[in-house]
Amino acid sequence: MAKVILGLSGALTHDPSAALYVGEKLVAAAEEERFIRDKHAKNKMPLHAARFCLEYAGIKPEEVDVVAFPFAEVGLDSPGRWYFAKRYWYAPDRALDALFNGNRHYRRNVKRVKGLLSELGIDWDRITFVPVEHHLAHASSAYHLSGFKEKTAILGIDGKGEYATTFFGYGENGKIHKIKEFYDPDSLGGMYGAFTQYLGFEMLDGEYKVMGMAPYGDPSKFDLSPLIDFDGNDFRVNTKLVNTVGMRRYKDEKGKGYYFSPKLIEWLGPPRKGDSADFPYIDYAASMQNLFEEISLKLIERYLGDILRETGKLCFAGGGALNVKLNQRIIALPHVSELFVQPAGSDSGTAVGAASHAAAQMGISVEKLHHVNLGPSYTSDECIAAVQARDEKPQWEKVANVPEAAAEILENGNPLAWFQGRMEFGPRALGCRSILGCPSIKGIADRINEQIKYRERWRPFCPSVLDSVAEDLLQTDHPAPYMTFTFEVAEHWKSRIPEVVHEDGTARAQVVTRETNPVYHDLLKEMERRTGNGVVLNTSLNRRGEPVVCTPEDALNMFYGCDLEYLLMEDILVRKKGKGA
Ligand SMILES: [Fe+2]
Repeated sequence: MAKVILGLSGALTHDPSAALYVGEKLVAAAEEERFIRDKHAKNKMPLHAARFCLEYAGIKPEEVDVVAFPFAEVGLDSPGRWYFAKRYWYAPDRALDALFNGNRHYRRNVKRVKGLLSELGIDWDRITFVPVEHHLAHASSAYHLSGFKEKTAILGIDGKGEYATTFFGYGENGKIHKIKEFYDPDSLGGMYGAFTQYLGFEMLDGEYKVMGMAPYGDPSKFDLSPLIDFDGNDFRVNTKLVNTVGMRRYKDEKGKGYYFSPKLIEWLGPPRKGDSADFPYIDYAASMQNLFEEISLKLIERYLGDILRETGKLCFAGGGALNVKLNQRIIALPHVSELFVQPAGSDSGTAVGAASHAAAQMGISVEKLHHVNLGPSYTSDECIAAVQARDEKPQWEKVANVPEAAAEILENGNPLAWFQGRMEFGPRALGCRSILGCPSIKGIADRINEQIKYRERWRPFCPSVLDSVAEDLLQTDHPAPYMTFTFEVAEHWKSRIPEVVHEDGTARAQVVTRETNPVYHDLLKEMERRTGNGVVLNTSLNRRGEPVVCTPEDALNMFYGCDLEYLLMEDILVRKKGKGA
């Protein structure tokens, strides 16, 4: 009987999720935020997500063999605790806590896992509990799912796990080896996150907005290098400015604390407020992005260069792996032949990472990630039942041909809410819970913003691209199934799909193959037949600040809470009254 391994994330009090392996197969994975409708589901455990995974797989609680969790005990002999204590000498309570009570978070996490398992009906005394170091879980989520067989360089960048913040290692014959780690407070992710707060966004959420703002600015106008000291081997974040603790932090009028200091404000001026992309903040964003890229690339060369020269394969996970601009530059490195980024790069992916790591320790070699359509799906009848339960008495019909019906709506210049198959795992909508538009129609991005997203005007929308045109459009045959990279858009495509080309001429593209999502692929084919371009604009199916839609009920709540006019759930087309197709 195949081993049943349940992976859980939520170790750092954000992005809880669950993933279920049956033998070498990843059967289901989902993020808790989708079920409880609370973005990042802070301070929650993945109860609904785990319940879904077990139900989907038809696994009873007593059939679970292993529970894996991405947070482990750190011994007093480990360098992380001592490093932390020395670097935080100015906040002695923290420093002493690391030395004398360094596994406080671990013990709390075990208690939380025990509570969760008892709610799920899983007997703690019967299962094997496998705690996995946080950065090993990130590394595993990339390496073991990459499908790479040769020696593979592994990179991990996030805010912080137990103590480690940055991981360099390699995978060989199914085993992960560490080369070098950096420890809190020396964190590239922490520096970027603190600066994200300074630029007026939420940490652990707004980093990609800083990245989106960067192309509007000039990275040479401000030198942000005082934020970090890098000598080619080691780096130290200047905690007098960012990644600060305690008294050095800045608090706003309401008493909310930030991870940057009053000194940073003295230097750069007041933190940014509002939705606009103005000077000097766009230049700051450009400088931060540039600093992050430059140091990351130098560290990759320093610690992974030899392996890359040998095999060219690199895996990347952790919140920093969602930095698609850095990823574009990594792919461009002369010795990198292929980069695999775990699509759930931030902590939600550590559920898969912990579980796959536990599997590897048991001698199970887990299969390559084929797609991220790992969440719940709903039948046509379930969609009809949800529609009929609405007070609005929606106008709906069953369409005979889903791709054709969708393409007609898009071709007519309308945005479309598109709900098909299993929900995606990870932050990107990849054609299962998406809002779509025709990228050749000028103004469609603005219409989507007006009708639903209400997001910052300067943020780019992204394309899903038919596999047969991807190489011509993106000028590369590098795999790109998960929107984890940006690419330069070929000159002759820019005027054809202007709505999905960013300010700097790049696009964060998803290349769609028939095997992973046949109905979405058919839609792209139909768009190509009608418009000449096998491309759609694809943004996630949610309103600003809300998690991506999970159920038909969520889709309808969103639909009636915004000005979108068309919603296609499986083969059920719902339209707002008085609107013709
Ligand atoms: Fe993490």
